[in-house]
Formats: sequence, C-alpha cells, structure tokens
Amino acid sequence: MGPSAAAIDNSTRLFEVPSALCPLSTMAQVIKLATGEMMPQVGLGTWQSPPGQVYEAVKCAINVGYRHIDCAFSYENEHEIGTALAEKFTSATVRREEMFITSKLWLTYMRPELVREGCLKSLKNLQLEYLDLFLIHAPVALQPSKQILPMDKTGKIIFDDVDYIDTWKAMEKLVDEGLCKSIGVSNFNEEQLCRLLSVAKHPVSVNQVECHPYLTQQKLMNFCKSNDIVLTAYSPLGCPGRPWKFKDNDPRLLEDPVLLDIGKSYNKTPGQVLIRYHIERGNVVIPKSVNENRIKENFQVFDFKLSEDDLGKLNGLDRNYRVVNFAFLRKQKHFPFKSHL
Ligand SMILES: NC(=O)c1ccc[n+]([C@@H]2O[C@H](COP(=O)([O-])OP(=O)(O)OC[C@H]3O[C@@H](n4cnc5c(N)ncnc54)[C@H](OP(=O)(O)O)[C@@H]3O)[C@@H](O)[C@H]2O)c1
Repeated sequence: MGPSAAAIDNSTRLFEVPSALCPLSTMAQVIKLATGEMMPQVGLGTWQSPPGQVYEAVKCAINVGYRHIDCAFSYENEHEIGTALAEKFTSATVRREEMFITSKLWLTYMRPELVREGCLKSLKNLQLEYLDLFLIHAPVALQPSKQILPMDKTGKIIFDDVDYIDTWKAMEKLVDEGLCKSIGVSNFNEEQLCRLLSVAKHPVSVNQVECHPYLTQQKLMNFCKSNDIVLTAYSPLGCPGRPWKFKDNDPRLLEDPVLLDIGKSYNKTPGQVLIRYHIERGNVVIPKSVNENRIKENFQVFDFKLSEDDLGKLNGLDRNYRVVNFAFLRKQKHFPFKSHL
C-alpha cells in the first residue's frame, strides 16, 4: 500500500486503503505536490481539538482510513497528537511513511534565526523526525515570546518587523536539512504569493486558506493552480465551532437550503457535500472533528461525485464571507486580508 497507484490526471492519483483499515471507504485520493510528494486530499483538522480528546480523534481517524493530519504549534495539542501517532506506529497500524503530517510555524518564530527552533518544537511534540509539510502560519510576525499572543501591559498584541521572505529562506534550509519534505504557506494573498514565488528556490507547495461555498476563493485558486501550488481548504464546514459567538446576521453554511437539497439528492449529509466540493475542485480539505461518528462521516466522501450543475449551485453561494479573518492582526503591515475589514 502507499500513495502510488493508478493515475487519474496529471495532478490527482488514487491510492487504495485496505478495507481492513478502512471499512467505510475502499478508496481515498492523493494530490501530487510540486515537490513530487503525495498529499492525501482529505485530512483531519485539529484546531480546537482539546487535549484529552484529540488523542482519541487521531487514533479513530487513522482506523477509519485518514492518512493526513493537519497540526500547528499554536493549537497547543501537538504533544497529544504525537502520542497517538507513536502508538499507531508501534502497533503497526500504519507506517510513518504512509502518513502525511502537516505543521505550521507560529508567528512568534518568524525571525529567520528562530525558524529551526519553531520546527524542532513541533517535531518534538509530534514525536517525528520529519514533517511532510511545514507551513508559515500567516505572513504576519509577532514578537518572540513564550506566549502564543504576546501582549503589552495594556493588552495590545506586540508585532515584530519581519519580512516573510526572510522567514521563507530559513524554511528552505529545513528542507535541505531533511526536517521537512515540502514547505508552503497559509493565509497568504495573491500579491504575497507572487512576491514569494519571485525568490523561492524550493517550491511553494501549498497555500492553506479558508475556503467553502460562501468563500469560494476562485481567483486565488486559479492563481495557485497556474503556479503549481495546492490550495488546502480550511474551515470547510464554515467553522461552526468558532470560538466566538455567531452574530445574528452571520450566515450558517451547514444550514443553507441549497446545500441541504443537494445533500438529499445524493443521500449525503451537508458536511459530506461540503467536503466533496473540494475533492471535485482539486483542492485538499481538512475538516476538524473530535466526534467518532463525524470523523467517520467526513471520510465517507469517496463513493459519490457532485455533478457540474451542483458544483455550479455551490459556487453560486459565494458571498466573500470569511469566518477566520485574523482581525486581531490587522495592524501589522503584512496583514493579508485588508480588503475584508
Ligand atoms: N491555517 C489556518 O490559519 C487555519 C485556520 C482555521 C482552521 N485551520 C485548519 O482547518 C481545520 C478545519 O477548520 P475548522 O476547525 O476551522 O472548521 P471546520 O472543519 O469547518 O468545522 C469544524 C466544526 O464542525 C463540527 N463538525 C465536524 N464535522 C461535522 C459534520 N459532518 N457535520 C456538522 N458539524 C461537523 C466540529 O465539531 P466536532 O469536533 O464536535 O465534530 C467542529 O465544531 C482546523 O481544525 C485546522 O486544522 C487552519
């Protein structure tokens, strides 16, 4: 086994997950990155997956057939994910090389001289010798600190003056050293990607951004495709567990009548349609769950295909609605979403 079998097109390949490991689906898809590495198209998100629950969630996901876990230093749960992974490797449920593990450099490690330390911290927590993918979490730098969000006495976030281009150059050294197989970015806009592409020596393999039918990211997605950058869709379900309150007029993606109708016509849940939407578009998608039934449900997406007509209906829901807007970083000069505030 392993991500290697029949080619479907230039960028997407199928690999088979043995049915003993994957009773719900016999097939999952992988995407080839610019580095040649294979990235499973559906991964498990872990933001807000509490220590105490994420351990079981990761083990459950691997049993169901997930081979891709999306992690980050700032989620403060990588140590527990590491314990779950180590157990799965020791019990020979999966081999390390069959898993695709992503982590992200947090913004307090953006200074080039801190990048390696930021990577080593995640590797140590995850009990790994290398990452399959390491992303700059966002183009914005915060003052080096033990806190995730360094603040002054008045509660104001303390930024740092680092150009993400310099951070990137230090990321490239991690690949040379064998600590990461591929590197990429997250929350970068098109202009920032252009600037990065003009200096990058190693491929910018991935841009991980919020993406769902209310924020289709069609233009950014086209740009990424034309530059061999894979778009990973975060908050694919519209982030219903967001840590702040829904406002009265916030649209609720999972309850959208168009989505509900499409789901009924395939006998699939709204969540499954939202995940399949990205498979159809050739993106990677990383729904988060710590609930066993939903972890399974979110992986039962390889036995149906959305029609062009239904894809068009979902794209038609676009309202440029961003849930995770990082507004608390808006005063930093490289803040990527100025047009959204
Ligand atoms: N790079 C970045 O800056 C960034 C930002 C945000 C997210 N991410 C990544 O993307 C992942 C996913 O995004 P997200 O966590 O924001 O949101 P999401 O995946 O859109 O939604 C997760 C929420 O939906 C619930 N859920 C899961 N499956 C469901 C289903 N089938 N039906 C209904 N509800 C369901 C989960 O609850 P239960 O756990 O109780 O099932 C959780 O509250 C994150 O975990 C993280 O790995 C990255």
